[in-house]
Amino acid sequence: MLNEFDLDKIDISVIPPETEPVRQYYFMAKCREWVRGFEDKNGRSPSCCVTTFGCQMNARDSEKLVGILRRVGYQVTESEDADFVIFNTCTVRDNANQRVYGRLGELKSRKKRNPHMKIALCGCMMQETTVIEKLRSSYRFVDLVFGTHNIFKFAELLYRCICENHNEQGMIVDIWEDTDKIVEDLPVERKYPFKSGINIMFGCNNFCSYCIVPYVRGRERSREPEEILREIRQLVAEGVVEVMLLGQNVNSYGKNLDTPMSFARLLQEVEQIEGLERIRFMTSHPKDLSDELIQVMKESKKICRHLHLPLQSGSTRILQLMNRRYTKEQYLALAEKIRREIPDIAITTDIIVGFPGETMEDVEETIDVIRRVKYDNAFTFIYSKRTGTPAAAMENQVSPDRVKEGFDRVLKVVQETAREQVSRYRGQQAQALVEEVNAQEEGLLTGRLSNNTLVHFPGDAELVGRIVTVSLDECLGFYYMGHMVSQ
Ligand code: SAH
Ligand code: SF4
Ligand code: F3S
Repeated sequence: MLNEFDLDKIDISVIPPETEPVRQYYFMAKCREWVRGFEDKNGRSPSCCVTTFGCQMNARDSEKLVGILRRVGYQVTESEDADFVIFNTCTVRDNANQRVYGRLGELKSRKKRNPHMKIALCGCMMQETTVIEKLRSSYRFVDLVFGTHNIFKFAELLYRCICENHNEQGMIVDIWEDTDKIVEDLPVERKYPFKSGINIMFGCNNFCSYCIVPYVRGRERSREPEEILREIRQLVAEGVVEVMLLGQNVNSYGKNLDTPMSFARLLQEVEQIEGLERIRFMTSHPKDLSDELIQVMKESKKICRHLHLPLQSGSTRILQLMNRRYTKEQYLALAEKIRREIPDIAITTDIIVGFPGETMEDVEETIDVIRRVKYDNAFTFIYSKRTGTPAAAMENQVSPDRVKEGFDRVLKVVQETAREQVSRYRGQQAQALVEEVNAQEEGLLTGRLSNNTLVHFPGDAELVGRIVTVSLDECLGFYYMGHMVSQ
């Protein structure tokens, strides 16, 4: 694009900020010039390292950061000794924040050793004012800070950080409170050549009372279906066989579009794409999961047999305090309907233990749901108080001892049901997408079944990215050992 132009003749002040992504391509070209200068001076390309914390949305955002860094000529490495190090942060629980501060401390000494080094921070944690204050006072060696709403202007910020001599200005901080902007067509580099996440929507409107995501990711906005389909078609043309449609609550996709469209309809459109073999999605809020979606899943040949359906708590009283807008009975009825309509589906979930006011009776209600739904897997979290959320101001915060007791009880039952569920396909054959060469054992490949269970089996590295038929010989807890039946 703009690489072709004579950059010195372009006056960026006349390219209005709303002209995106053109403006960003201009800055990519400017950064590219800087990189060439670096290469001439140092006899090597500058290196960069992108570290991701948090969920699939962040993982996808990091692919966008890498896309731009590579485009301007950076060499991507895994080592934090790089010339440009960026942490894409998460703040959903306090331990995520603590990890970032810990890692930043380590970076400080590395920066002393490498005079070229620039340190950048972005992602959800940066949307919190208390974090920015702390960075300004105690982490002044950080060069660039931006948030979730303006990640699209990374090229511009990178330019300011590396090309303009910003040392006089100190830390560059650019945080937006919210946005309704969705910028399409920026470079992105996928971690895997054969599978990819696709954002179908951004933000969240649900305001579950414990959760900080709506505050740091902003209001819900859906991408236009044409843009999503265009992106997937392009990915398939590049060799992608599996996509994961991403949103905090995919079931409310399309409600705010000029021409509203349901998530189930979108799935039907995606299903039509030739060459695409598998479709996954994350996450479904139980209150919005429609019969239409169950039917579309049931009839589909491509939608994987896996549904992540966060429960959070099995106690109706706690669910109400959490602002989840369903009862224990409604959740159970929904899970039962899904299992009845799609018997081979795997249902997984998220559970929080220790929400304010939770008693052991409430924990027993959660355990009752786990036993009845028989989850294939469940992520169990200890409640973390997030400043600014309604739950943080609630009385009766649960004591750490009591939380631990509840957590251990829940985990034990989750593991029992998961083992039982996962092993129910022992001896059968199934299709697996080969994802990688097993790092621990030579000659073994790791594949993922439609229901999200992993299977390890002997095979050639050339099969990575292909869908093969495997026999599920032995179930070892939460995964299978098997052998390949056909390619
Ligand atoms: N939008 C997704 C979840 C995003 S956060 C959904 O609603 O399913 C992922 C998970 O983190 C949540 O499902 C919840 O179980 C957990 N979580 C969110 N806030 C938390 C908090 N304050 N303490 C502990 N766990 C939390
Ligand atoms: Fe958080 Fe609830 Fe939104 Fe999920 S649906 S991101 S838990 S507010
Ligand atoms: Fe964390 Fe932000 Fe995802 S807070 S869980 S990275 S949306």
